[in-house]
Amino acid sequence: MGHSELGLERIVRIEPPEQHFTLLRNEDGDYLGSEDGDRLQLYNYVDDKAVWNRSASDTFRHPATGTHLDIDRNGNGHLLSHKGAEIGVDGNPSEELATYTAHHGPALMPSDYLATFKENGWVCLASVLSPDIVDELERVSCCGRWSDRVYDRETPLLNQTNAVARASVEPVSLWLIRQYLSTEEIRLAHSPGLAVLTPDDGKRDVQGWHSDFPYLWGITRKRGDDQRIPKGMSGHISMGVQRNICVSEFTRENGATCFKLGTHVLNSGPPEEWGTGSIYAQRGHRASHGLPYDGPEADIIEAPSGSIILYDARTWHRAGVNRTDQRRAAILEAMTPSFLMPFGDTSMPYKQFMKGPIVDQLLKRDQTAFAELMVHKVIGPGGMGAITVDKELTELFQA
Ligand SMILES: [Fe+2]
Repeated sequence: MGHSELGLERIVRIEPPEQHFTLLRNEDGDYLGSEDGDRLQLYNYVDDKAVWNRSASDTFRHPATGTHLDIDRNGNGHLLSHKGAEIGVDGNPSEELATYTAHHGPALMPSDYLATFKENGWVCLASVLSPDIVDELERVSCCGRWSDRVYDRETPLLNQTNAVARASVEPVSLWLIRQYLSTEEIRLAHSPGLAVLTPDDGKRDVQGWHSDFPYLWGITRKRGDDQRIPKGMSGHISMGVQRNICVSEFTRENGATCFKLGTHVLNSGPPEEWGTGSIYAQRGHRASHGLPYDGPEADIIEAPSGSIILYDARTWHRAGVNRTDQRRAAILEAMTPSFLMPFGDTSMPYKQFMKGPIVDQLLKRDQTAFAELMVHKVIGPGGMGAITVDKELTELFQA
């Protein structure tokens, strides 16, 4: 295959972590943690309070406070005690023992990721997803060891595996997005979608430089698309975080996303001379003009599989070019505050998901977390109502 020349972008390499923290969850999926080290509590989110470290001896250490839990029994889960008292299902001392399970957690403390995110406008949570979730995502995207599998075009993605919803509710990245956007009320602006980059042939159309939803600077499919959020006016408040879930390892060769890191602070889109999304949306433009800007001013984030890259949606970027012979998969999620109109309809995929078999495979906490992300609401008759696309009204509008 005639691969084009590699670009000259600066490489920012995120190495696979040597160790991960542990998250402890009760049978509903709530996270066990502590504010002060004296009392344990359940949380519906994960910041430093809910991060544990399994030590070689049978204990979980709590790095935020220095307290520790003793593991009374191992099996499918752990029976735990704290300061000599056994822990019940609500995190308090109890005679009725409860089982907690240990889950794959982040490599760094959530507050460390947050400091990086706020300072740079992007952060990478290296291999934050557990290997079983990554393997399932590779299976449905037919990548890695599943390359010979045939992609299922019939079943909606959310109904193919519980791994898409489980990846979507990864709790540290959600906490970070809430902190970065300064609101608890965040939503998926469209249903999670697979982005599979197949090997490049040297002439096919490619994506040009742009900013993501809600900004869409650099992309004008129809008049006004890129004026949704006026340039120069969003100031210090960000209205979107893009969440790229690296299903495959991201490398320069296989088409890791290409960025101009730090451009979120400019509050304007990429320059036309870099080759914007609008320009490269014209059929055949790449074949006749070559690739968009891929010089040393641009940055490529290389990251291990199972990583989640969060970036301010204003950051200039474009999809990479896959110069390997293997497919490369990612899941792309635009996350916005709930006060913004979504980009796409999430109600239909969510309704199909709720009617399918997958939802029952999720822990209760994950079901709730996913519903919070997918269901957009307004006041309707009888109180808060979920919004959806109205077929009848759409037809009237189109008439
Ligand atoms: Fe994008």
